[in-house]
Amino acid sequence: MGSVTTDTHDWVPPKSTIARDFGSASHTYNPAARLQRYMGQVLLDQLKEGLHQAQGADGLQILDLGSGTGWFTGQLASIPGSQVTGVDIAAGMLRYARSANPSGIRWIEADAEALPLPDNSVDVVFSNLMIQWCRDPAGVLAECRRVLRPGGRLLVSTLLEGTLDELREAWHRADPGHQHVNRFESEARFREQAL
Ligand SMILES: C[S@@+](CC[C@H](N)C(=O)[O-])C[C@H]1O[C@@H](n2cnc3c(N)ncnc32)[C@H](O)[C@@H]1O
Repeated sequence: MGSVTTDTHDWVPPKSTIARDFGSASHTYNPAARLQRYMGQVLLDQLKEGLHQAQGADGLQILDLGSGTGWFTGQLASIPGSQVTGVDIAAGMLRYARSANPSGIRWIEADAEALPLPDNSVDVVFSNLMIQWCRDPAGVLAECRRVLRPGGRLLVSTLLEGTLDELREAWHRADPGHQHVNRFESEARFREQAL
């Protein structure tokens, strides 16, 4: 285990703002989510390629962390033997996801930094483009470690330093002194937290 200095990612908006803004975007999100689809599909393909592990008596427990509109949650639920839980901080996203997906998926409104799930209860954590919205990514990864069973799998995609630099530079020239584009952390720092 590497030592990790804790720093708050104070450029990330407060959770209440994230929950409100994603919730109110739930009905317009899917048509605009081309990057999210692309990246989530890469994660899903990786998961399916490596799915050889034995399941517990309660099936293959999959957690979609930051499940949004449930686009991938529904696909995870079609994996034979899977029992899927979608967790999101935005009530509006969960409402949309529940209505757009088959019943049988469990939906929980919760913060990824404090998961209301027991230790060693999940076989797979799938999290597509959620963790960059958290001020404490190390805390999220610690929660993932806590809920994963031994031999469980963590599949996470995120945005790293360098993303949207051109847009950031353009805004900097047009409106210096105001941050219009989210910041992202370096790959080295992210990997350090994942240890
Ligand atoms: C960019 S969307 C991705 C949604 C989905 N994973 C997908 O691929 O379409 C990020 C989602 O993470 C959720 N989110 C952000 N911060 C969160 C947190 N601390 N805990 C749980 N969900 C969070 C947002 O509400 C939003 O639905």
